[in-house]
Amino acid sequence: MKWGMSFSCLALGASLGFLAANPALADDSGAMNTPDSVERSAFGTLPDGRRVDLYRIVNGNGVEMEVTNYGGIITSLKTPDAQGRLDDIVLGFGSLDGYLSDAYRQSNPYFGALIGRYGNRIAGGTFELNGKTYDLAKNDGPNHLHGGDKGFNRVLWNATPFENDSGSGLMLTYTSADGEEGYPGKLDVEVTYTLTDNNELAIDYKATTTRATPVNLTQHSYFNLGGEGSGDILDHQVMINADEFTPINETLIPTGEIKSVKGTPFDFTKATAIGERINDDNQQLVRARGYDHNFVIDRASATDDTLVLAARVSDPESGRVMEVATTEPGIQFYSGNFLDGTLTGKGGNAYGHRSGLALETQHYPDSPNQADFPSTILKPGDTYQSRTVYTFSTE
Ligand code: BGC
Repeated sequence: MKWGMSFSCLALGASLGFLAANPALADDSGAMNTPDSVERSAFGTLPDGRRVDLYRIVNGNGVEMEVTNYGGIITSLKTPDAQGRLDDIVLGFGSLDGYLSDAYRQSNPYFGALIGRYGNRIAGGTFELNGKTYDLAKNDGPNHLHGGDKGFNRVLWNATPFENDSGSGLMLTYTSADGEEGYPGKLDVEVTYTLTDNNELAIDYKATTTRATPVNLTQHSYFNLGGEGSGDILDHQVMINADEFTPINETLIPTGEIKSVKGTPFDFTKATAIGERINDDNQQLVRARGYDHNFVIDRASATDDTLVLAARVSDPESGRVMEVATTEPGIQFYSGNFLDGTLTGKGGNAYGHRSGLALETQHYPDSPNQADFPSTILKPGDTYQSRTVYTFSTE
């Protein structure tokens, strides 16, 4: 079924919802219980022989996304422009080989991947917790980035397709062993991607641990609302619902200061073209070679974790609009500064400088070392829960 749900599929909805809630009942291959709105195909084979799958999920409006259980990577997301033309608006590759190539691993842009156990940087690759020092991989200069050498972006997740009242999607689970990548505690993680008929992509994160550990999960899709491979994103208009951001030092670690965006190139409280100020002579922009900063999302109070609008992006050319809502306190706006044209994407075009942007909902970078930032420590008995919703429309 290409363009939506069939009647038989709707009738099956309840039982499939039941299966999604009871994954043990789903058969190993996932094939038997795959709803009509989710199609599974082979995506490639890992060097150790394990098969990797690709899941294609469509909604009733023709919006479709493809997700692989390798790294939980969103490899493709097709949405209509103002004329109704579908384009793929995320950067990525058409086969597993693209994500395993040496060139990809060297530049390591984390296209479309699930990020964990700790999204963003931890200074010096080290932190202290309950009187013990933990050492992590320094995989980004002197710092730890996005979970280490083999973060959640490079592991094989268990995948269960589902369809329920809100839409259809994929539930991914992964158990990160105690000590994996240097982190304490066995962490059970569940991430659910749901594509709704309102053209929303909802991402729900859950985790529990056996020992106290930092956890900061996010999604690392690079968007280009003009279509992947169509050039840079400098004409995209961005609004970020943040009066403050966290400035960074020379190695992109927050200095600890929470700074007002007023009168700086970081003021996106009104929609502004990304390119308008990105090359300003501003120390923060020079350090990151553009935007690569955590914004403090405006909230009713410090403890408010309701779903609020964090950012809105629009592309005047295609008319596509993307809104990002989240329960998280922060959002990293990364303007693709490290993309340099060495990688060629699925459409055959090189991904040049600033050819995609990421909006990563998160707790602030380096929180395990910054006592004044909201805590990222998950304790045994507690459940980490987080939700981010990307909504696609046109204007
Ligand atoms: C970071 C960038 C980094 C990119 C790819 C982003 O989340 O903020 O500094 O280059 O991920 O690794």
